[in-house]
Amino acid sequence: MWLPSHASAIALLAWSALVSNAAAQVTTDCNPLNKTCPPNPAFGTEYNFNFNRTPNVDVWQTTVGPIEWSLNDGATFTIRKQGDSPTIRSKFYIFGGRTEIWMKAAQGTGVISSVMFLSDDLDEIDWEFLGGDNANVQTNYYGKGVIPEKSNGGMHPVGGGVQNGYHNYTTDWQKDRLEFWVDGALVRTLHAKDANDTYYYPQTPMRLSLGIWAGGDPRLEKGVNEWAGGVTDYSQGPFSMYVKSVHVQDYGSGKEYVYGDRSGSWESIKMVEGNSTIKEKVNEPPEKSLSDRWEDLPDGAKIAIYASVAGFFGLLFFVGLFYCIRQRRHGAREARVAEARAETERLELERFKKAGIDPDSFTASASEYNAKEMRRGGAQDDDSYSIADGPPVTTASPLDFTSSMGTGAVAGGMRAVSPSVYSDRTGSIQSMMNPAQQYGAQPQPQRTYTADRYGADDGGYGNAGGHNQQGYWGNGGGGGGYR
Ligand SMILES: *[C@@H]1O[C@H](CO)[C@@H](O)[C@H](O)[C@H]1NC(C)=O
Ligand SMILES: *[C@@H]1O[C@H](CO)[C@@H](O)[C@H](O)[C@H]1NC(C)=O
Ligand SMILES: *[C@@H]1O[C@H](CO)[C@@H](O)[C@H](O)[C@H]1NC(C)=O
Ligand SMILES: *[C@@H]1O[C@H](CO)[C@@H](O)[C@H](O)[C@H]1NC(C)=O
Repeated sequence: MWLPSHASAIALLAWSALVSNAAAQVTTDCNPLNKTCPPNPAFGTEYNFNFNRTPNVDVWQTTVGPIEWSLNDGATFTIRKQGDSPTIRSKFYIFGGRTEIWMKAAQGTGVISSVMFLSDDLDEIDWEFLGGDNANVQTNYYGKGVIPEKSNGGMHPVGGGVQNGYHNYTTDWQKDRLEFWVDGALVRTLHAKDANDTYYYPQTPMRLSLGIWAGGDPRLEKGVNEWAGGVTDYSQGPFSMYVKSVHVQDYGSGKEYVYGDRSGSWESIKMVEGNSTIKEKVNEPPEKSLSDRWEDLPDGAKIAIYASVAGFFGLLFFVGLFYCIRQRRHGAREARVAEARAETERLELERFKKAGIDPDSFTASASEYNAKEMRRGGAQDDDSYSIADGPPVTTASPLDFTSSMGTGAVAGGMRAVSPSVYSDRTGSIQSMMNPAQQYGAQPQPQRTYTADRYGADDGGYGNAGGHNQQGYWGNGGGGGGYR
């Protein structure tokens, strides 16, 4: 028995109130519908992020840690205990774009694996995976943070199971339509005009968040648990979501995106000319790993270290030998062993110094690096996981969590919703949705997306023959042609 999937936004809001750091995921520091806000750093490029190693901290931010990065699994987001909700978020914004995400969802009743695009004025595009449902992925969208009466959710079967392997979840977001693709098949198309005549269509620059959280946390309101598919049993964990890679193409361009007025319409967004700083960071080599640093050591230093290791084993042999001898000859021998050990150590130190390295600093910087890496991986302070002492929880956002978690209702703010959302638990999720949305549009021939194709197909929306990406959203004089 599931709630309409628009409960997802409410559930995530409730979750944010519970886990302090998660709040940033669904709220906004500055809502441009209300005031003048800082510009959004533009991505303005195309890049494939392979999560086999920690990405540049200037490009991706760990909002709640820790995240593990590995060669085989990519980024791993794990819930080990109640309150965990590791999440990363891009520091860049895209203004229209195509993202291809290769991921494997987590199992576990009530556990939600989530991909969320969110703008400062709370336009939102979601992919959600319920841990209790291996067969489907859900999609959803919101405009300007408004939770609609009738769910915008869609549910799409995924052959092979969302938890059994990596699948290709591709989102193609243009100003007049939004497409969701699974493993090369188009599963859903939203036309802008069908979202309250474009008013609720996602149309402002968005950041991308990837993360996992427990809608089944027993501290959450019962309705939220039900939406999530049940109460999470943490003893069945750990529950992990894996993201191998994220390919991002921004259809916008320039240095940053600025809201020109308070309408929240795509026409009001200005693409400020210049070079995206993120774009430069993306192309910077990532910080070196310990093994890279070892590779970078001059040969002399490596030889010295090898020699010292050899010297260490030599010393062991030496000590061992003397130990045997000592069984027969006591006394002065022991003093000599100590002396020999001291001498070996002195020689070792000398070898290092001759090779131009300070062995102390090598050790020290190695451990420092590890600590830093852990911090970057998100193993920050325990505050990340801390649970708010008690309601009411206040945030710096326009969304006020004025009610207690006990009742679970999120009152006030743009996402205010009547409690009836929770009480309506009768229908299946399918019955709540527009059947056309359930399995997306009619099957369509598979399309391939090459750069040419983008240009060719969509030139008509912007400058004729628009090789320039601005054509997609063509604000100002350049674009025109929006229909
Ligand atoms: C604007 O700000 C006021 C006061 O903070 C708030 O009540 C209102 O909901 C906000 N409106 C929007 C659209 O964010
Ligand atoms: C992932 O799906 C998209 C959309 O169908 C497709 O364009 C892309 O080529 C796919 N990626 C791979 C690696 O197959
Ligand atoms: C559609 O948008 C208009 C504003 O353009 C708003 O007044 C109206 O309430 C919206 N309709 C729904 C169903 O949300
Ligand atoms: C952007 O970068 C290019 C190449 O690095 C440079 O030639 C150009 O002047 C830069 N433009 C701005 C506005 O900084």
